[in-house]
Amino acid sequence: MRFSTSLLAAAVTFDVAFAGPTFIRDKQNPLRFLTYNVRYDSKSDKISVNQTIASLPSGAPIQPNPYYNQTVERPWSERRIGVSNDVLFPNVDIVGFQEVLTRQVDDLQELLGPDWAHIGVGRDDGIKAGEYSAVFYKLSSVELVSWDTFWLSDTPFEPSKYPGAGSFRACTTAQFKSSLGRFTLLNAHLDDSSDKQRRLAASLMLRRAKYEAIKTSRPVFLTGDFNSPPTGQDGGAYQITTGALGPLPINSTFEEKYSWKPKDEKPFGLTDLAVKTQPRYRSGNYATFTGFSAVGDTRNYKKLDYVFGGSTGEAWGVESYHVGSSLYDNGSWNSDHRPVYADIVMEK
Ligand SMILES: *[C@@H]1O[C@H](CO)[C@@H](O)[C@H](O)[C@H]1NC(C)=O
Ligand SMILES: *[C@@H]1O[C@H](CO)[C@@H](O)[C@H](O)[C@H]1NC(C)=O
Ligand SMILES: *[C@@H]1O[C@H](CO)[C@@H](O)[C@H](O)[C@H]1NC(C)=O
Ligand SMILES: *[C@@H]1O[C@H](CO)[C@@H](O)[C@H](O)[C@H]1NC(C)=O
Repeated sequence: MRFSTSLLAAAVTFDVAFAGPTFIRDKQNPLRFLTYNVRYDSKSDKISVNQTIASLPSGAPIQPNPYYNQTVERPWSERRIGVSNDVLFPNVDIVGFQEVLTRQVDDLQELLGPDWAHIGVGRDDGIKAGEYSAVFYKLSSVELVSWDTFWLSDTPFEPSKYPGAGSFRACTTAQFKSSLGRFTLLNAHLDDSSDKQRRLAASLMLRRAKYEAIKTSRPVFLTGDFNSPPTGQDGGAYQITTGALGPLPINSTFEEKYSWKPKDEKPFGLTDLAVKTQPRYRSGNYATFTGFSAVGDTRNYKKLDYVFGGSTGEAWGVESYHVGSSLYDNGSWNSDHRPVYADIVMEK
């Protein structure tokens, strides 16, 4: 999809200092992004995707459904069809998943089918051990140019854990080509127990995002489960990401590797797409985390999952933003998080 210069000029408005120009909704064939923490496979069984498909009720879905109010975490084998349909039905183009174990990566690849591919590594060994911050992408929408993983710790170039963090934490970074031009995507899952880790992670990711934005002169997006809200005492990662707080000092090798010449310096910042979207095109829920709570019990509900974007001036924008649901009438949750969608447009 190409933009005519005049169309672009008409559609662009200018907002906050670093965010660059922003489009207003103009039906410009956006790329649909999704960030989704699918909950790791904590109740593992040996049921294959094909067995699950074979066991689905074949009759017409016209019987009254039991509306249960009791909810429990169901095994991945019962959740994965719902998760894959949250990608396929809304015609998503690119997904940043979090908390995906190898088996789940394989299942999602099988369920999404041959028009999809994925990247990412297990965070515990850089191969297949532990959870992946996997990026799945639709081959008919985007083309992978390059990708890598870095760790959200003091030693980012090797599988490692920040002191005091609950787990190894990693960020998948990828560059893609699309009909809207090139872009970079970072996808990560920050720590659940160390706020310092989350702030460091945001500082590392912001550095990498700025480096990619300057190097490519193209927009950069960041999807992730920040395990922390936008505001309050635990809001540091969000605030560093959006520039409200300064970054923490990061590993100097990382800083050197992702540096640029003074003459190439440009202002860069990341904006929360929930904020950037025009209010009338924001929809769905506020909370992105629900826990496997009983229906109506909102005590655990929180906003933890985000899509951010930024550029060094290249035109891009967000048309719409939606936080979906992951709870069915019968009390089955697809995940303890909800899918978060954003429709992104860029000038090629
Ligand atoms: C699952 O079923 C499909 C369609 O019948 C088949 O093509 C595929 O090979 C099966 N997958 C596995 C892992 O057996
Ligand atoms: C939920 O269901 C249980 C029985 O399954 C019932 O005892 C309880 O009152 C219900 N709670 C609500 C809020 O409907
Ligand atoms: C930076 O990280 C690399 C490996 O990821 C490590 O070898 C190096 O010692 C770290 N630098 C500092 C100052 O900790
Ligand atoms: C609940 O409903 C969903 C959607 O209709 C279905 O996929 C799932 O298997 C059901 N779960 C149970 C435990 O019946």
